[in-house]
Amino acid sequence: MKSLEGPLLPILHEIQAEFGYVPQEALPVIARELNLSRAEVHGVVSFYHDYRDHPAGRHVLKLCRAEACQSMGGDALAERVKSLLGIDFHQTTLDGAVTLEPVYCLGLCSTAPAAMLDGEVHGRLDADAVRDLVAEVRA
Ligand code: FES
Repeated sequence: MKSLEGPLLPILHEIQAEFGYVPQEALPVIARELNLSRAEVHGVVSFYHDYRDHPAGRHVLKLCRAEACQSMGGDALAERVKSLLGIDFHQTTLDGAVTLEPVYCLGLCSTAPAAMLDGEVHGRLDADAVRDLVAEVRA
């Protein structure tokens, strides 16, 4: 994977910054310009969780899935959020309100379990707190 990164990551980053995701149609163009195969470009896009292949919802809720948060009930919390939203990770609610994404450590391990909603971090989450977060994105 490392040998493919070169200019590819900055290009993908710029595309996502501009459009909010990396459109599938962009992959063959990037591949041609960088003399890579489409499969190689697709592999990099899917390897890095931060790249989206579809537009995000109006809100992006990132739940920490790393060790400290998992040890503090992160799995149960994730299941609760998925159930409340009716979606899985990497999906967006049908009304376009929220995209749910995993994240691997927000630097808030001492206040695990943690999440980030639209760039704002939240720690010490419990069932009530995630219910409130979900209500906020659904409002
Ligand atoms: S493991 Fe979740 S914030 Fe560090």
